Formats: sequence, C-alpha cells, structure tokens
Amino acid sequence: GVYTIILAGGVGTRLWPLSRTYYPKQFLQVNGHSLFQKTYLRALENSEAGSVFVVTNMLHHFLVKNQITELGYQISDDQILLEPSGKNTLPAITWGVKKIAEKDKDASIFVFPSDHQLGASAGEELIKALPLADNYIVTFGIVPDSPHTGYGYIAPGTQLGGGYLVREFKEKPDVKTAERYVQDGYYWNSGMFLFSAPVFLSELRTYQQEIADAFEKELIWDELPSISIDYGILEHSDKVAVVPLTSSWSDLGNFNAWYEISGKDACENTGNCVAIESCRNFVTTKDRLTALIGIQDTVVVDTPDALLICRRDMAEKVGDMVKDLKKQG
Ligand code: GDD
Ligand code: MG
Repeated sequence: GVYTIILAGGVGTRLWPLSRTYYPKQFLQVNGHSLFQKTYLRALENSEAGSVFVVTNMLHHFLVKNQITELGYQISDDQILLEPSGKNTLPAITWGVKKIAEKDKDASIFVFPSDHQLGASAGEELIKALPLADNYIVTFGIVPDSPHTGYGYIAPGTQLGGGYLVREFKEKPDVKTAERYVQDGYYWNSGMFLFSAPVFLSELRTYQQEIADAFEKELIWDELPSISIDYGILEHSDKVAVVPLTSSWSDLGNFNAWYEISGKDACENTGNCVAIESCRNFVTTKDRLTALIGIQDTVVVDTPDALLICRRDMAEKVGDMVKDLKKQG
C-alpha cells in the first residue's frame, strides 16, 4: 500500500512573533487552512486516512488532532508519533518508516514536510513517481530562481523512467557554490521524498548505522544523533533519483515569501490595513486595524504580546532576532 509520513516538528523562528515554540508556522491559519492542514489534504490524494502518519513534537499533539478534526477527518493516536525532543528529520522519518513497515514491510512511503505551499496539480505529479520507489529514494526537483543557501541542490544524471538518477546531492551549499549550481542546471530539493520501506532501511543501515541500530534495540530517543535525511543519507547514497516538479512550489520560510504568495490590494499591500501612499507592505494583525502612511516594503506583524516591524527584504533576519531574544531569556 501507499503511506504518507508528515513531518510537523519544526519551529519556524523566522516567522516570529506569529510562529512560536507552542504554535509553529505549519499550524498557523493565515489565509484559510494552515500549511499542516494543506499537507494533510495532499496526503489524502495518495494515501487513505488510516495510512497517514504524523511525526511531531509532544507539545503539538492537540494541534495536530484538532486541525485534522477541523477538516472533517479522524486520526488515531496510533498514527501520531510524538517525539520527546527534536532530532531533525532523519530520526523522525525512521520512526515513521519503522512503524509503517511493521504493518506492511514493502510499503511505498511519501514523506511530506509541512512548511510549503504547493500548486494544486502537484498531487498527480507525485503519484506518477511511484514506480521509481521500489529501487530509489525519490526526491522532487524545483527549478531554482536564486542561489538560495537554505536548500539542498540536486544534479540530475542519467535518465530513468520519469526522472533522473542523482549525480550529486549537496545540502545547503555556500552562496558561491549555489551560484555555480544554478548555472549548471541543478534543482532545488523540494523536501518531499518517496521510497519503499526496504530501500530506505537499507540505505539507513549503510550510511547511518548508529540510528539503524538504535531502532533495533530498546530505543533511547534522547541519545539519538540529531541529523537530517539530507546530510545523513541523500549526500551519500547512490540510490537517489530526482523527478522534476512543474507545479508551483514555495517554501514559506519568512514573511517575504509569505508576502509573495498572498492576495494583494491595488497598492500591492496584503493584510488588514488602511494605507495612504503606502505600497508593497505585508501586514498581519488579528483584531486591530493597522494604518500606514508613507510606508513602503515593510512587514508589520502585530500580536498581543509582540510587534514586529521589519524591512521586507530583511525578513530572513527575523530568525537572528529570535536567537538574541532566547539568549536574553
Ligand atoms: N517531526 C519532526 N521532528 N519534524 C521536523 C524536525 C524534527 O526534529 N525537524 C524538522 N522537521 C520538519 C519541519 O517542520 C519541516 O516540515 C520539515 O521537517 C523540514 O525541516 P526543515 O528544518 O524546515 O528543513 P530545511 O527547510 O532546513 O531543509 C529541508 O527542506 C528544504 C526545502 O524546503 C531540506 O530537505 C532541504 O534539502 C530542502 O531544500
Ligand atoms: Mg524548511
């Protein structure tokens, strides 16, 4: 059968003060459904409700349950895997795969992060990749539009049915390298994966034996190494394939990305605001009205206990601010 693991354990500090430890970005309902809810609905395009597993932090158990109930579906506690602490994506994925393989050892498994906006036709494109899952860890490639250093880069090699063998996978390169990759026709890694349980588990054993062994014994979660699937497996494995995605894809990593995909008024402002001679602003407030006069290209995020005002082209720096705040306690 076909299963989906949804990863929903990240914190999303660059969307502070909307995104918080207790309410991270994937659960924020900004224009209708949250990203987590959209991801769940996408999972139902390829998996039955009983075959969707969510791996998240213990803090978010009820957010997961409530947001799925709100969509009119049910998820059993058995399908929500609650991590005592965040160990990055590889341990999270491994736990999901182990759980699924107990029921169906040859399962085909999609892994979906919950921090993206995807075009409506993406579901069909993903399903077309299923035949590759028996032999490869399938990644989905996005044509880059900048040398962004927060993504994985994928060099396509020889052609396979429906995709390519991956010649090189490099996670989060420096900007010089990223520029070269963009010129050389590399793809961005979308963060979604597809593989069969046996392929994943054998690559895990080959490249991350410590994690493979830990899951064979009595598992002590807090002693697992913290590592992503990208650094842990994809950079090393020669069984990685890439299928280019043509539908739109956007990582809502900061408020500027959020601005780009939001509906805008005549002055290209988004959100609940009145404006005089103010353009291209991203405004989010809950119950209060925001009035702007002569303000351009600015992010204004108002919450009951914190207000953020930031240049839109500096939105990536919000994460640094959160680090500083944490240091101050
Ligand atoms: N359950 C769980 N536990 N989920 C996690 C954890 C964890 O410890 N850490 C991260 N996640 C979730 C996040 O919520 C997100 O949905 C997904 O896993 C990916 O994690 P990120 O931390 O957002 O990864 P990234 O954005 O730095 O990089 C990944 O995504 C890029 C595309 O957006 C990589 O796969 C890159 O190669 C890729 O380009
Ligand atoms: Mg991300």
